[in-house]
Amino acid sequence: MPIKKIKEIDVRGKKVLLRCDLNVPLNKKKEASDNLRILQLLPTVNYLLNKKAKVILLSHRSEKLKKVRSFKEPRNKKKKIDEGSIYPVKKTLSLLLNREVKFIGDCVGEEVRREVENMEEGEILLLENVRMYKEEKENSREFAKEIASLADVFINDAFSVSHRNHASVSSIPLFLPSAMGMLMEKEIKVLSKIGKNPERPVVAIIGGSKVESKITVIKNFLKETEHVLLGGKIANTMLIVRKVAFNLPLPEKKIVEEVKKINYTSPKIHLPVDVVTSVYNGRKREIRETAPGKVGREEDIFDVGEETRALFGEIIREAGTVIWAGPLGFFEERGFEKGTKEIGEHVAANKKALKVVGGGDTGKALKKFGLLEKMDHVSSGGGAMLAYLGKEEMPGIKSLEK
Ligand code: 3PG
Repeated sequence: MPIKKIKEIDVRGKKVLLRCDLNVPLNKKKEASDNLRILQLLPTVNYLLNKKAKVILLSHRSEKLKKVRSFKEPRNKKKKIDEGSIYPVKKTLSLLLNREVKFIGDCVGEEVRREVENMEEGEILLLENVRMYKEEKENSREFAKEIASLADVFINDAFSVSHRNHASVSSIPLFLPSAMGMLMEKEIKVLSKIGKNPERPVVAIIGGSKVESKITVIKNFLKETEHVLLGGKIANTMLIVRKVAFNLPLPEKKIVEEVKKINYTSPKIHLPVDVVTSVYNGRKREIRETAPGKVGREEDIFDVGEETRALFGEIIREAGTVIWAGPLGFFEERGFEKGTKEIGEHVAANKKALKVVGGGDTGKALKKFGLLEKMDHVSSGGGAMLAYLGKEEMPGIKSLEK
């Protein structure tokens, strides 16, 4: 069913609730250390500002919070900035938009309503991390209705979280005239073309730190692609389940059960044959390359080894389409960057392949290694891009089809 585009909905002078993804990496000083996602959002925000809309930004942050409360519980009003706050992003947002962005440390309630009512046309208000409340992940209709009541129109430009069945993603459109933003429109346009008739062989490279959502992705990609190359935490999980590695920390039982349900011994799945590990010997850190089966109890795996990089490189060289989400190792640290860097170089060197990469960390890594420009499409979403190309249902897109 067709989805309304932002230009097909009346936003002039209206209170527009913009679901966006400001879940960007922060450095030790709690500043945005990569602004790709914010840059990708600017066309939609600028369009709304030109239409003199009152722009209310709503986003999540991913980190696990010690306390996730209900939106019905009274808040500690003295504590302005909570753990997991989205506040650090405000500065980068203001800088890139070249205008003031106001912030309020909540996303529902009377104080927020008053702030919204006082907004002038062309102003921007950033609401607090929507995952501060448990009702977000529970997809509570009541919570969604409460947030929706702040605005006249809803725009969803958060493609990168559209694989989540959360209140702000899939239930707010039930209560407001809704449309997709420009980033969402671009993502759907590009990715739907790739998904329809990709040049073969299709090679998927899956890494990163999130494991749970990657299991379904692998299951789908075993149908949709010729090769699935694994790095990062999902590779470790698979090495344990396949009984190749013995001394790695055990994944949650639920995750092991899920992996066992898919065809995890498929020859399409390629796992690291060697890994880079780190261990503290007194105060000194020792880094070495070894086979996954020889990793010691005290060691942590932080990257894929030389032989793996060469093997993966051979597969990538033959690809007609490359789909990549998630770094292969802890690329931010010296000593563990080679996996992501060299795989990036192999992808870039394949001139004939269509190269699609996604996710905040992958984008950040490719930027660091000067390879971002060599990709054909950089999706704002990692998990979401994989889910979309794996033909999973996307609640955030489906809810806009009305
Ligand atoms: C991402 O970083 O992939 C998106 O912001 C979605 O985050 P999530 O995996 O925590 O839902």
